[in-house]
Amino acid sequence: MQREMNAKANTFEDLLAWQQARKLTRAVYQVTASGRLSTDRALCAQLRRASSSIMANVAEGFERGRRTECHQFLSIAKGSCAEVRTFLYVALDAGFLDRASFDQLLGLALSTSRTIARLRSAVAKQRAARRKSAPFPLFLPPLQVPSPLVPSSLYLRMSSIQITRCVCQRMPFATLLPLAREQGWTLDEIMRETGCGDQCGLCRPYLQEMLRTGQTEFHQVLWE
Ligand code: FES
Repeated sequence: MQREMNAKANTFEDLLAWQQARKLTRAVYQVTASGRLSTDRALCAQLRRASSSIMANVAEGFERGRRTECHQFLSIAKGSCAEVRTFLYVALDAGFLDRASFDQLLGLALSTSRTIARLRSAVAKQRAARRKSAPFPLFLPPLQVPSPLVPSSLYLRMSSIQITRCVCQRMPFATLLPLAREQGWTLDEIMRETGCGDQCGLCRPYLQEMLRTGQTEFHQVLWE
């Protein structure tokens, strides 16, 4: 996701979704600053909180290195758009908002929501594509041996499995471990700082085991 977003946006401020959320938040602050709506403080606070939450979650999603997290934050942002729309209906029904202001704000909330949805599905597609391109050596099914279903020649090849690095980042575990220990990194921090475990994700269980045991060479398939 990061690379795809970077192609169009260097910072979260460049994202159309964030810019639209900002516009919506500004309009919400203006409409709640005076007039009849401003008399209902609780409703104003809810509207303001929900609209700024859209901006904050889009920004946080962008800043997170992992697609899974980004997807999650975009879902929260989209949920906040729905909150804003709901509170706008409350304000309209209570007679605190005139129809023109309501239509304008609802339109902004809807277009922000659609942009976030498009961004979120782009992130999901990219995540799925990376999973499909999983490297072969880490993608073997768990070996049931002895098994009549596995020809002995294949078994010999599978049994000599040796996993020693993150294939996507071409990073040997033996290089990564001292670095991780020196920096006191957790698994999440390894993924953020080095990208290991954050592409196809298949080396993640090995990274976890490496941190737990100090092992840098594996001869069996591990699963999360
Ligand atoms: S092997 Fe793909 S992320 Fe490490």
